[in-house]
Formats: sequence, C-alpha cells, structure tokens
Amino acid sequence: VKDQILKALRENNDGYLSGEKLAERFRCSRMAIWKHIDELRNRGYRIESVHRKGYRLVADLDPIDPTQWSGPVDTKEIGREVLFFPEIDSTQQMAHQLAREGRPHGTAVLAELQHGGKGRLGRNWFSPAGVGLWTSIILRPNLTLEAAPQITLLIAAAVARTLVMFGYDPKIKWPNDILLAGRKVSGILTELQADLDRVKYIIVGIGLNIHQRLQDFPENIRDKAGSLYIINPEQTPRRELVFKTLCSQIESLYHLYMEHGFLPIKAIWESYSLPMGTRMKITSLKKVFEGTSVGITDQGVLLVKDEAGEIHQIHSADIELNA
Ligand code: BTN
Repeated sequence: VKDQILKALRENNDGYLSGEKLAERFRCSRMAIWKHIDELRNRGYRIESVHRKGYRLVADLDPIDPTQWSGPVDTKEIGREVLFFPEIDSTQQMAHQLAREGRPHGTAVLAELQHGGKGRLGRNWFSPAGVGLWTSIILRPNLTLEAAPQITLLIAAAVARTLVMFGYDPKIKWPNDILLAGRKVSGILTELQADLDRVKYIIVGIGLNIHQRLQDFPENIRDKAGSLYIINPEQTPRRELVFKTLCSQIESLYHLYMEHGFLPIKAIWESYSLPMGTRMKITSLKKVFEGTSVGITDQGVLLVKDEAGEIHQIHSADIELNA
C-alpha cells in the first residue's frame, strides 16, 4: 500500500490528496494512511501535509542511505567508510564513540534524521528526515591543540567549494557558517579529544540544509535559515552527489593542509569569506561588543576592531551581522 500511496502522490503532481480520499481508495482508515505517510517520510520522501487539503509529495526520492546510491564514495580516506543510521540522536555522539573504538581517519557517520542534532554553543540543530545532510566525520590529524581550529576553517572552505561545484555563490561567516543570499544553509561543529597538547582525534559535524522550504523551518530560525532549494527550487542537487562531492573536497583540502600548512587553506577560506570590514556584534565568554572584521590570523583567529579602534582576537564567539 505504501508504494501505491507514493504512486498516487506522484501522479497527482503538485496537488494535494486528502487523507480521506486516500483512505477510500486503498480501503483503509485515515489513521493507516497517516502511518504509511509517516513511514514514507522516514524513508526520505518529503511529504507535506496541510490541514483540510491533504498530502503532497514535495521532493521525489533523494536517498541518503548509501546502499541505495549509485556507488561508493570515490575517495581514498574521507567517506571511504560510511555508517548510515535512519535515525539517531546525534551523528556527533556516535562518531565520538566510534573514534574511541579506534575507527580510522575519514570514517563518516550519516543519518536521515537526528532527534538531538547539536549545534555550536550548546544550541540544537534542526535535522528532520528527507531534507538535509547530517554527517560527522572522524579525522586523525597529527596536530597540536593550538592548530586544531584551523581544521574548522578547512571544513568551511570544503563546504563552500562543494556549493560552488553545484553553481552556488556561498559566503563564509567566521568561523564556519555557510551563507547563501544571507541565509545560513550549513553549520559546522568541531569537537576534539586531545592528550596533553596533541590532538587524538577530531570530529567534524556538518549540517547542510538541502530541500527545506522557508516554512519548513521552525519559526525562531525562519528569518536566518536557508537551504539549497530556496535558492534554486528547480535544480536542487541530490544528497548523494552533495555528500560525495563534500568528501572529495575535504580530502583534497586536507592533503593540501598536511603538505603545505594553513596558508593555502586560509587563502581559500578568505576567498569565500564575507568581506572584511563587515559590521558585527561579538558575544564571547569574556565580552560582548560591536566592531568590524579586520581579518584572520595564520592560526585562524578572527581579528575585530571595536569602536575605539582596538583590535580584539576572537577564538570562539557568537557573531551577529547587521549589528
Ligand atoms: C552550528 O551550530 O552551526 C553547527 C551545526 C552542526 C550540525 C551538524 S549535523 C551533523 C552533526 N551532528 C550533530 O548533532 N551536529 C552536527
């Protein structure tokens, strides 16, 4: 019945099919229809339901489950091994566990849906099924603790490059928010384990909004959040392709970094950065102030000039634009 419901929704193109009609047609209860719809959603179909109108198939199948993909990720390390979960609390947590168990560099955890997606600064990350890329990747660089933040910028540059490959024009807001037309489409959460001053492993968590419409976002983030769909509804790329491209971009920047250090990464990051001189409000653990961005250091630290002309080094903070 599920597949027939799917067929019916497809044949209905962009219109709505009411639960009642579907129930009549498939001779079951509206409750049963609702359950089938729910399962289809968990399989990754974006099905919208509107009160008094019914159900509508929004994005056709865009599987995130690697067993349904055309082939494995075409890289040497990053994403060579992908552990997929239809639902999970947070891929971040799972990646930590796997890293502790000794899984190799490049292992990726991928989920259709996260119940407890984590954002930076203790926030949560909205991660419903069918519409995004929610992944955490284990990295095992030989790095000092001090250099570790550079990895965050490396990942931001890799996400930006990935979007460029699909024809978008991304901007990075320090350290790692990726914006399209001023809306945040991707966020990166970097966490690490270290021994004294050496990094043991780093988990980079990447969230990328792909198929959401504006009204799919919770109200509290609707004015700031974006997706690839919002920019270009006709040609939103498939998640498989986005993930594979992302893995190969991370791999190539990672090698560049290991061979030539942070400078070439910094140059790429800067080429996508919001222009220096952008006004912003900085909220760090130590202080809150307004200023303009001046640049980033070779360690990836943000420099911001306050109203009195004093330059501050920002290692970690929340940054609001248009302050
Ligand atoms: C941010 O606050 O901007 C960072 C968001 C990071 C979200 C991703 S989604 C995959 C991974 N798992 C999580 O729980 N969070 C990260």
